[in-house]
Amino acid sequence: MSQSDRSQSGPVSPGAATNPVTLRTLQEMAAAGMPFACLTCYDATMARWLSRGGVHVLLVGDTAAEMVLGFSRTIDMPLEVLIALTAGVKRGAPDRVVMADMPFMSYQADEGTAIRNAGRFLTEGMADIVKVEADASFAPVIGRMSRAGVPICGHIGSRPQLATLEGGYKAAGRTATEANQIVADAMALEDAGCRQLLIEAVPPEVTELVLNRTRVPVIGIGAGPRCHGQVLVVQDLLGMTEHPPRFADPVAQLGDEITGAAAEWVRRVGERATGGQAYKMRPGEAAQLEGTQPLADGKGPAGASVHTYPSGNGGGVRRPQAERTRTPGV
Ligand code: KIV
Repeated sequence: MSQSDRSQSGPVSPGAATNPVTLRTLQEMAAAGMPFACLTCYDATMARWLSRGGVHVLLVGDTAAEMVLGFSRTIDMPLEVLIALTAGVKRGAPDRVVMADMPFMSYQADEGTAIRNAGRFLTEGMADIVKVEADASFAPVIGRMSRAGVPICGHIGSRPQLATLEGGYKAAGRTATEANQIVADAMALEDAGCRQLLIEAVPPEVTELVLNRTRVPVIGIGAGPRCHGQVLVVQDLLGMTEHPPRFADPVAQLGDEITGAAAEWVRRVGERATGGQAYKMRPGEAAQLEGTQPLADGKGPAGASVHTYPSGNGGGVRRPQAERTRTPGV
């Protein structure tokens, strides 16, 4: 991809919304200077709606720890759960690129474990690509994963899995030294085999340098407008989080919509007016049912003898024997 390719920008082609999206599609869009859209997604229903809207990449992020499981840190995301969520998203949007985040300690401890876990995201999770938060020191393991056949996106810049070490979530690359380190990380990860990079919470100047020094598609989050792709946590975009990050500009207020809808349901339930359509009895069955019910005084209907079923076969419910002999429609 040339410099001038990178500097082009323009609307995402409408065709891209409906045609199947693959990793190659994203490379081609990046090369053509057409930005692609990425959002986090954690379930099949949302995957379907986002894909209908034309989102190209669904990231099953470890932010599921916060958005789905209610933890306050992404490092609490269990591997098994994230694999299952990834498969759900792919089932919901089989023609989108599904990127799975490798959670904390699923790739840091040793190379064998990292490769096996990445493989599980591809096989059990049906992911198209996995994402790892990494710096240049991860190049060897990324090289091995890549040679084993795993497409990898290297997540650079601010790396939320380091929040405990660094005393919280924060922006990255705000000093020249840090910025140079991020550029060096980007180049090392690309050399090691990363097919994409994701850069989080850095000043646009740093992104610019990364774009200039690498050739793979770069997805940004809070990293300026010039990245090939852009991602947000979907709840931040839809107005469902109390404190979205500064770079997230919501396009809807679904939190308020959901609160309003929930209040409406509470009202309907309270008024015994839940709406919808009731099931109907088959023709004649309502009359038959009525004729087989015990009378209010506890006796069976006229002419019917009544017996009690033993416990375990009706739990002592009194049912008239005439039940099975009555003619339909009576
Ligand atoms: O886990 C995640 O959702 C992410 C995005 C915030 C980029 O990594």
